[in-house]
Amino acid sequence: MLALLPLIALLPSLASAQVTATNPNGVTNPDKPEFYPIGSYVNSTSDSRLITLNGVDDFCLWGPPDQSGAPENEIGNVEPIVVAYCTKPRNGARLIPDGAITAAHFIKTPLYVQIHGFWDGTKVGIVAGDAGGELDPHGAENLGNPIGGNVTSNVGGTDVFYEEWMSFISYDQFCLRVCTAETGNVTAALQCEHELDIMGCQFVMAIEDFYQGNNSFTSCEGEPAAPPGLYPQPGGGYSTFRQRYTGTYSNEGGVGYFTVGQTVTPSSVAFYPATSNCQTYSTISNGINTGDWAVTATPSILAAGSTQAVSVGSTSQSRPSGVSAAASTSGASSGSASASASRSGSGSPASSGGASASASNSAAGANSGARATVGGSSNFIVGAGAAVVGMLVGAVALL
Ligand SMILES: *[C@@H]1O[C@H](CO)[C@@H](O)[C@H](O)[C@H]1NC(C)=O
Ligand SMILES: *[C@@H]1O[C@H](CO)[C@@H](O)[C@H](O)[C@H]1NC(C)=O
Ligand SMILES: *[C@@H]1O[C@H](CO)[C@@H](O)[C@H](O)[C@H]1NC(C)=O
Ligand SMILES: *[C@@H]1O[C@H](CO)[C@@H](O)[C@H](O)[C@H]1NC(C)=O
Repeated sequence: MLALLPLIALLPSLASAQVTATNPNGVTNPDKPEFYPIGSYVNSTSDSRLITLNGVDDFCLWGPPDQSGAPENEIGNVEPIVVAYCTKPRNGARLIPDGAITAAHFIKTPLYVQIHGFWDGTKVGIVAGDAGGELDPHGAENLGNPIGGNVTSNVGGTDVFYEEWMSFISYDQFCLRVCTAETGNVTAALQCEHELDIMGCQFVMAIEDFYQGNNSFTSCEGEPAAPPGLYPQPGGGYSTFRQRYTGTYSNEGGVGYFTVGQTVTPSSVAFYPATSNCQTYSTISNGINTGDWAVTATPSILAAGSTQAVSVGSTSQSRPSGVSAAASTSGASSGSASASASRSGSGSPASSGGASASASNSAAGANSGARATVGGSSNFIVGAGAAVVGMLVGAVALL
């Protein structure tokens, strides 16, 4: 069922991978991932595409620029232009309203940081019932999907722009992994591999208790998962799962079809990584009165089991036109903290709770689609140019 592929065969195509970003930041992004200063107003029509993943209550997700909820705003249609929505006032970006996120689970590993959870994505304009899509730094034109999308994290102690990340967003769930380091045999590109775009959060990000994790907030350390779709074999080497994909190509010889990947979905990930040093929080909040979007208080973040203030600058911005001094719709309280147990990893493929446990047919949650051809959320279909065909033919040769 799985093609056996020596790891060495993967290496040439990944040799150019890197960890920190070196190309320019997106043109609509601020230069740095900073909090809005006190005295300013959150720009609820911002086009910032700078997302950040720092912790359980300090991260950003993607959402449509048009928040009307109209069908044309399905993620699959707007991937190149989605914008940043953040849990705290930062990055010149829009804000996720309090209560939208019903669960968030943050994991810091030596190779990546990751968050996953559940939300009411309609609160940021995701179309009700939208199966969603996969966002990544590549996209049809290799300018990012969205174009100009960039990602930072401060888990190393300072804010760093990272090159490789992947994110799944649907109306009811989300996940985001930012690859912050690499080893001799696992590149950042491999650990943030973004082509399994119909497999969903639970499979791609190796989340054991995915659906049980709603309505809770945790922050853990953890060991890295196996790179998405890779299965370490006892004697060394790997078997590889490739999402099945059928596309069309055209050249001098005419038009034809090609297929890559497997027809059978593996029942589970290689293993579920162990977690440790977990903290549990009751909720998260943005600290902003979304009645008028005014930034009036020092932001606080949840870390090490407590609420910590962060320092920000101040400014004196006049109230933007069209914004009234409305009553508070959102408190500034932060979740309370408590310690919780760690979980040990399971070293062998789990017989349940794996890929077959999905209860949703969303792109973020589905995994039954491995035999289907990919619809609107595939990067490849969008850019069926010669270079793309060459890449896919390369993938066929690899397999
Ligand atoms: C911004 O994203 C693009 C596209 O992924 C990437 O090439 C570039 O290095 C990133 N720049 C920064 C500063 O993050
Ligand atoms: C809010 O963002 C939009 C889109 O980038 C921009 O046109 C507008 O000037 C911004 N408003 C403020 C007050 O900065
Ligand atoms: C990378 O090497 C380490 C140490 O030899 C090994 O434990 C791990 O399984 C390898 N992972 C991959 C994806 O090659
Ligand atoms: C998560 O819990 C909320 C209630 O807090 C519920 O409305 C939502 O449907 C749940 N999401 C999923 C995917 O079960």
